[in-house]
Amino acid sequence: MSFYLVAASTIHLVGDSLFEDTVRTGITNVTELADALSERIERESADDFYQRLLSAAQMNGGRLLVVDMDGKVQFDTFDEQCGTRLGLSEVYTLLRGEKGSDYGFHLMDGGGREQAPSILDPITRRDISRIWVGSFTAALFSGEARIGALVMIVPVQDTVDSLTFVQDRMTGIFALALAAVLIFAYMISRIVTRPIAELSAGIQRMSEGDYQHRVHVPGRGEMAQLAAAFNQMSEQVHNLDEARNQFVSNASHELKTPLATIKILVESMIYQDDMPSELRQEFLGDINREIDRLSSVVGDLLTLVHIDSHKLRLRREMMVLADTVRESVKRLTPLAKKRGQEIVAKIDAECEMFADPGKLAQVCYNIIENAIKYTPDGGTIAVTLTRGGRDAVLEISDTGVGIPQEDLPHVFDRFYRVDKARSRDTGGTGLGLSIVQQIIRLHAGSVTVQSEPGKGTTFIVQLPVK
Ligand SMILES: Nc1ncnc2c1ncn2[C@@H]1O[C@H](COP(=O)(O)OP(=O)(O)OP(=O)(O)O)[C@@H](O)[C@H]1O
Ligand SMILES: [Mg+2]
Repeated sequence: MSFYLVAASTIHLVGDSLFEDTVRTGITNVTELADALSERIERESADDFYQRLLSAAQMNGGRLLVVDMDGKVQFDTFDEQCGTRLGLSEVYTLLRGEKGSDYGFHLMDGGGREQAPSILDPITRRDISRIWVGSFTAALFSGEARIGALVMIVPVQDTVDSLTFVQDRMTGIFALALAAVLIFAYMISRIVTRPIAELSAGIQRMSEGDYQHRVHVPGRGEMAQLAAAFNQMSEQVHNLDEARNQFVSNASHELKTPLATIKILVESMIYQDDMPSELRQEFLGDINREIDRLSSVVGDLLTLVHIDSHKLRLRREMMVLADTVRESVKRLTPLAKKRGQEIVAKIDAECEMFADPGKLAQVCYNIIENAIKYTPDGGTIAVTLTRGGRDAVLEISDTGVGIPQEDLPHVFDRFYRVDKARSRDTGGTGLGLSIVQQIIRLHAGSVTVQSEPGKGTTFIVQLPVK
């Protein structure tokens, strides 16, 4: 809109300035001529006056008419309109005495639209059917009284032609500029909106579950940063999604195995009517063990879910870590005995601390239980508790199978078992150590492992004593 307004007013201004000269010359000429004629109009004969008019018309290169106070043509240098009334509004403003001089521009189209006299080019006498003329009018006086008007009609086609030319040129230039502005604006808006469109498409795909889609916004501006943040977020969501799927599939797998065993045992009991009672008793014992395993797996899973959803809260109280260690050793000694193993406990510090005794008992139990599980019959398990600076240091070493170097970084991963087959035999799920690690992290401590395959393994737990 504003572009159109600027263009229109500029073209208008150019037109005004082009016609300004024509109007000024026309008005000056006609006024001077009218003044000169006014002096003679009463004194000269009609013929002389007409001759004077003719020569003046020739000099000015136009047509001259004299109208009386009724607007009736008295003299016409083209000798056509005498006795008729001129249909030019500027003549009447003059006769009514509103102005001393006036002008107008008219398109002559061979006696069509305008009521004005048809115009012949006064110089070439060439008949031009469509032509723009200017009519300049000044009042004629006799003494003080208005007695009529002098009308001078001159062709202004040249001026109109040059105006049309300028207008056409300027319209073209403005149209080009407008097109350029529009293209530029379109490109700018594309540059601004494209990243937004790309981002919202990415968000849309993410909401539909496509976490692998990444958005590409080049550069280093805010939009590029936003896109990078979005990509990072979808990467995390993708990882979380995969971890969740992995967790669910592992968990289901761990639950399926004992359930399948129970099913086989129960089915053989159902279909074997004559089963000896000792065998039936043995089967029931196996079922019982599998149920224990199931409930321990479910318990571990629940603990992990609690830790993940940050719902696991420590119930801290003043406690003595040495007591917790002694208690775990005591509880596991029968299990070790069964395998001819010995647990040697060496408690050098009592380590009073503000911590969750239940959770730390779980830590001790899990690590010592592992040591028993992964040590051949007759082995030794050493449990020592010392103070190291501000930390309580708990070391549990065994003379067991050990852990290969490449497996060491993974033993704290969920469901990770070094020797899948053997672990299954010993009833392992691969969750124990990951729970141990999480509990120790919650206590702001650390757990590390050192191992030499075939010789043994040492777990070192460090817990801050406050
Ligand atoms: N003291 C150890 N000696 C050798 N290998 C060990 C020892 N402790 C752990 N591991 C290895 O690390 C793996 C992970 O241990 P983790 O306690 O997490 O699982 P698990 O004992 O198999 O099952 P559970 O969930 O019942 O504890 C074990 O499967 C075992 O292969
Ligand atoms: Mg374990």
